Amino acid sequence: MKGIILAGGTGSRLHPATLATSKQLLPVFDKPMVYYPLSTLLLAGIRDILLVSTPVDLPRFQALLGTGEDLGISLSYQEQKEPKGIAEVFTLAEKFIDNSPIALILGDNLLYGDGLHSILGQVSSLASEKEGAFIFGYRMQDPSRYGVVDLTKDGLVIAVEEKPIKPLSPYAIPGIYFYDAHATSYAKMLQPSKRGELEITDLHQMYLQKKKLFCQVLPKGFAWLDAGTPSALLEASFFVKTMQERQGLQIGCIEEIAYEKGYITVDALKDRARKYNNSYGKYLFSLV
Ligand code: G1P
Repeated sequence: MKGIILAGGTGSRLHPATLATSKQLLPVFDKPMVYYPLSTLLLAGIRDILLVSTPVDLPRFQALLGTGEDLGISLSYQEQKEPKGIAEVFTLAEKFIDNSPIALILGDNLLYGDGLHSILGQVSSLASEKEGAFIFGYRMQDPSRYGVVDLTKDGLVIAVEEKPIKPLSPYAIPGIYFYDAHATSYAKMLQPSKRGELEITDLHQMYLQKKKLFCQVLPKGFAWLDAGTPSALLEASFFVKTMQERQGLQIGCIEEIAYEKGYITVDALKDRARKYNNSYGKYLFSLV
């Protein structure tokens, strides 16, 4: 399975903070925001990853992450000239996807919780073996700012809707999705929505009509945060700070995951650790 990180957009809800830089390069506590979705893909066992961003921002991501070789992964980059909606990514990345199953994560989504590793692993193997799109549901007090999924008691998807005024259910759809090999051909049939975007929810609607949309509800106690507004960004930073400092464990540490997954050797981990003369470097050394 391959993976895509969508890190484009204008970040207008964060202006002026994002007038001269990409939202996904802003720090969430001690790391660039993009580390968190990247670490989620690594946890899912995905090592062939495409990062999509604007022509202006793409070189900054390349400077930050390089080819991925020192993490034992392959990172490539693709420009999105003008944001036309999340689902545009499938046509932009058609060559990279090359008719294989694909995971898509939005560059401002942070997921954290016990068992995330196995949930991602299971869904990733399902999407590789079975036809369908696989999304998650996350219980929220008010999901109206997000995609929303309505489910039967047995967990079958009844409906999906985008930013509803009156949500059909309390389950928001986090920005991480797994698809079979048909996503690109379906995405090509999409028409822009009323707000002029190729909506990811419309793609899910197509899978739903074919009875091929599956949803797993994330368990109680899971954290799903996005960092799209000044308050959400600050809350995400405090969450990471609190968890890391209480437990002495890092969240979104790409080197740690690469090492634990066996993508890099002890020596490669030490090389990365030597780059930092601070507590992040000390943490990396402590893993050896
Ligand atoms: C997008 C999707 C929405 C999803 C959300 C997750 O919304 O359209 O369905 O729930 O990401 O972060 P956006 O935040 O880009 O408006």
